[in-house]
Amino acid sequence: MGPLESEMMDAENPTEQDSKKRHRCDSQHDSSAGEVDAKGGQLQNSSNQDALVNNNRKKKGKTIFPYGNYNTYYNYRVARTLDADPRMTVMQKIWFEDKDVFDIGCNEGHVTISLVQKYRVRSMCGVDIDPGLINKAWNNLYYESGVPEKDTPQSLYEWIDYVREGGDAALEDEDCTHGAAGDQLQVSTSDTDIGLQGKELLQRVIFKNANILHCDLRSNMLDTVLCLSVVKWIHLNWGDEGLLELFIKIYRILRKGGVLILEPQPWSSYVRKHRVSEVCRSNYKKLVIRPEHFPGILLEQIGFKSCEQITLEVPESTKGFSRPVYLYTK
Ligand SMILES: C[S@@+](CC[C@H](N)C(=O)[O-])C[C@H]1O[C@@H](n2cnc3c(N)ncnc32)[C@H](O)[C@@H]1O
Repeated sequence: MGPLESEMMDAENPTEQDSKKRHRCDSQHDSSAGEVDAKGGQLQNSSNQDALVNNNRKKKGKTIFPYGNYNTYYNYRVARTLDADPRMTVMQKIWFEDKDVFDIGCNEGHVTISLVQKYRVRSMCGVDIDPGLINKAWNNLYYESGVPEKDTPQSLYEWIDYVREGGDAALEDEDCTHGAAGDQLQVSTSDTDIGLQGKELLQRVIFKNANILHCDLRSNMLDTVLCLSVVKWIHLNWGDEGLLELFIKIYRILRKGGVLILEPQPWSSYVRKHRVSEVCRSNYKKLVIRPEHFPGILLEQIGFKSCEQITLEVPESTKGFSRPVYLYTK
């Protein structure tokens, strides 16, 4: 194994010592925590996923994160000298300002919250399969807002109705006209560069604990979907079928002209991580689709109109994390 590979391997296996850094808010919960509070973090019928996530196994003293649900992820991703995630430098205002955004696999919500603060996103929903991470994301949101937790404003966007898990709650497409929820928003935007704080920040963000594949989402409801370093985990856990289901879902929930910002992991990273669980190991052997097939699939089969490589590598990223980021437009 070369030095880079070994670093990347370590980068995907953060240890407890690393958690000393970069916690905006020192949550009492770790990612294996079972319960999430009543702020909407836990969706109903979350099926077996919680049991699976909560059973992050320990192997040779190391905790195993079968969904990439690392609880110290940002300690690794963000170089010690930096405050912000380097991927923030490749994000453009036009994809976020006054937009309705969905962050798939939001982890502790650092990027999710930073985008809302920087670009005054109109509404943001971060979803993650791990309830402990969602709990941390809520804590981080309150910390950034400066609002005491007891003072919870109503979310301006009706995400609670729009993001739900379960098969029989499917919503009709005709109910999903543009601005169905957005019409209710009465938020001011300004040109100031000062990051959003206070209730205005709280009102724009919601975090949900759910498996994206089980989420029932309205069609044509979003301007921007973020899918950063998540695809490999869905691909390994749910196979080619799960991957295609994810792509179809993303396409469906985007409005016409909406964008998918995709940061796929390279195949080499699958090779290293597929032994993380029996499910991943078994699925890995059957995978036919490779990351280099994604543009063809998304454009020719799923229906995206265009694909642009936003960046070949993310400047200032820690080793192993400088991956290409793509922009797909519906
Ligand atoms: C490697 S982390 C990337 C976090 C974040 N997107 C970023 O790039 O900073 C992958 C995240 O995806 C989440 N995840 C994996 N499978 C998921 C699924 N099916 N539904 C929702 N979240 C998922 C994991 O819990 C984890 O937080």
